[in-house]
Amino acid sequence: MYDVKDYLTRGLLFANNALFPRHKKLATLMFYSTNACNSRCKHCRVWTQQPTVHIPKDKIVEIMKSRCISKNTTVGLEGGEFLLHPEAEEILAWFAQNHPNFELLSNCLTPQRLIGSVKKYPPKRLYLSLDGERKTYLYMRGRDGFDKVIQVIKACKDAVPISLMFTLSPFNSLEDMEFVVDLAKQYNIDVRIGIYNDIAFFNTVDIPPPSIIKKMNFTTLSTVFPKTSKILPKITTF
Ligand SMILES: C[S@@+](CC[C@H](N)C(=O)[O-])C[C@H]1O[C@@H](n2cnc3c(N)ncnc32)[C@H](O)[C@@H]1O
Ligand code: SF4
Repeated sequence: MYDVKDYLTRGLLFANNALFPRHKKLATLMFYSTNACNSRCKHCRVWTQQPTVHIPKDKIVEIMKSRCISKNTTVGLEGGEFLLHPEAEEILAWFAQNHPNFELLSNCLTPQRLIGSVKKYPPKRLYLSLDGERKTYLYMRGRDGFDKVIQVIKACKDAVPISLMFTLSPFNSLEDMEFVVDLAKQYNIDVRIGIYNDIAFFNTVDIPPPSIIKKMNFTTLSTVFPKTSKILPKITTF
């Protein structure tokens, strides 16, 4: 949820960038700080990337010193799963002290660690992924993480603003979206809706929806959706 101050800050930034094009400032900056991930999502296959790479803390600090970054630049820390970055603690400590205008994104699969980090280094906003009800979570993310998301919401909702991130994809439904919106209302937290996209960094594969898969045989599917043939044998539950 945005307030009047957010709109004013964004308006002033826009004016600055239009009037002084050689001194532009960024409104937001997202660090895809690591490709390490402990989930097995179907809509994001960053976890298949080899080798595992991390942006070193020193590089992040160097980037943060760029002239295009101001104290109003909202910085997002994600990946992959940010907490799996080997310098996660040091990076969070640096931001808490030097640039508190940062946000943290997580899949909640290590709930105690996340809750501890949020309490110690409170982000401006905590984004938690939730793509549907319990069974959908397991199906779309390949891990049984639903209860962990609820655990983090309950532990952190009075400490920092929380947004649930729902991604509509071939692996969930509009009913799942309704479920997540209702859950957000129940806990009086915000919800953001995203739509699945074929994104190179996430190693995505343009998989057709289950209804199409059921109607085609493997050869036809491999021709129409060439990248699908690489992972179709691994998708057994359609
Ligand atoms: C890349 S994840 C990183 C943070 C953390 N690992 C998580 O899952 O929340 C950030 C958000 O991007 C979404 N996402 C992943 N792959 C996507 C895709 N192919 N299209 C659109 N959104 C995607 C995820 O569902 C998640 O809400
Ligand atoms: S969406 Fe998040 S949790 Fe899922 S694979 Fe991508 S980075 Fe990992």
